Amino acid sequence: MVIAVEDERIKSVASAADIKIPPGAKVIDLSQATVLPGMIDCHTHLGSRADRYNEIYNFKSTPFDHAFSAVVNARKTLEAGFTSVRDVGSDPFLAVDLRNSINEGYLAGPRVVASGPGISITGGHGDLNNFSPQTRVMMFPEERDFQIADSADEVRHVIRAQEKYGVDVIKILATGGVLSRGDSPGAAQFTFEELKAAADTAHMGGRKIAAHAHGTEGIKNAIRAGIDSIEHASLIDDEGIRLAKEHGTYLVMDIYNDDYILNEAPKYGLPTENLDKERMVGRLQRENFRKAFQAGVKMAFGTDAGVYPHGDNAKQFFYMVKYGMTPAQAIRAATSSAADLIGRAKDVGTIEAGKYADIIAVNADPLADVRALEHVDFVMKGGVVYKDMRVPRPAN
Ligand code: ARG
Repeated sequence: MVIAVEDERIKSVASAADIKIPPGAKVIDLSQATVLPGMIDCHTHLGSRADRYNEIYNFKSTPFDHAFSAVVNARKTLEAGFTSVRDVGSDPFLAVDLRNSINEGYLAGPRVVASGPGISITGGHGDLNNFSPQTRVMMFPEERDFQIADSADEVRHVIRAQEKYGVDVIKILATGGVLSRGDSPGAAQFTFEELKAAADTAHMGGRKIAAHAHGTEGIKNAIRAGIDSIEHASLIDDEGIRLAKEHGTYLVMDIYNDDYILNEAPKYGLPTENLDKERMVGRLQRENFRKAFQAGVKMAFGTDAGVYPHGDNAKQFFYMVKYGMTPAQAIRAATSSAADLIGRAKDVGTIEAGKYADIIAVNADPLADVRALEHVDFVMKGGVVYKDMRVPRPAN
């Protein structure tokens, strides 16, 4: 096959016999490799590092630390073959500025669909809990404008404020979490009415909305409220699976990072409370991934990069195959389906005329062993080559 690229887009895809390569065209011979569309991770935190689990960092790290991390992480992600990401939670408004700098060509990184901080109830997954009330700890001074909301009206305010500063997508925290303190992953956060107000406000503003939800009730509240994707979905039950199918809701299940949280994060200071919470949800999440996929729920690839080191995103494919997908299905979750979820199917997700020339290549055959995707040798984004590790073949 010949993929003709002009400027940043694909001009045509045709069999080599049917196409005349115009004189002067630069030819990149990938005929010895497997060529795929650039991959898409629908759940990253480019501003976060996976070696900062000690609580002290909540007080020491600044927005600048996070921004410097994001510069490094954006490049690592791109070089791992992920040419688009949906970044779902960072300081206001790191992801927006990162997106803009990358789009200007100032920084190397994936295309970023940017959210603001994940919207949280007071004391919820997005808050800093269990410190003395005398210390009055908060995430950042403007948290009541951009992050913390305790009623439908406050939810509407925070979403509108985030949109005012340029987010592409809304992230809301519909249950407790694993890596937060003092809350339970199984417990719902926000009422159905608050989630409905969130979904309606986001959609009115032309944005999609993603809900973090581990717990069974929170997952169902979010689906019924019209949220576009459920992140984690760890404790989804049969009714939740049925509702997700009925509403066409995507599940974005991050089934790799359990390994990293259990084995590596404690070395970087992860408290026992959080380790215990991971033990409660991690394995069930993998079983429920299998159940939901077999039931026919829409699934898109998302890993929660930042919980584990950026650049290792493709390690999740192994688990997606282990828990029920074929390699081709796992690849589609990270390409065409992911493009659909992030609302960019016109531009990315397949190798087709008219789309961005976001093209990667791997040496081995990922359909035979999906772990081939952990070693991406060639990365083009928008017609520009960012990585080319192919061994030069001897001239004959
Ligand atoms: N950010 C998520 C949380 O703190 C990470 C959950 C990771 N665990 C998992 N099994 N997916 O809740």
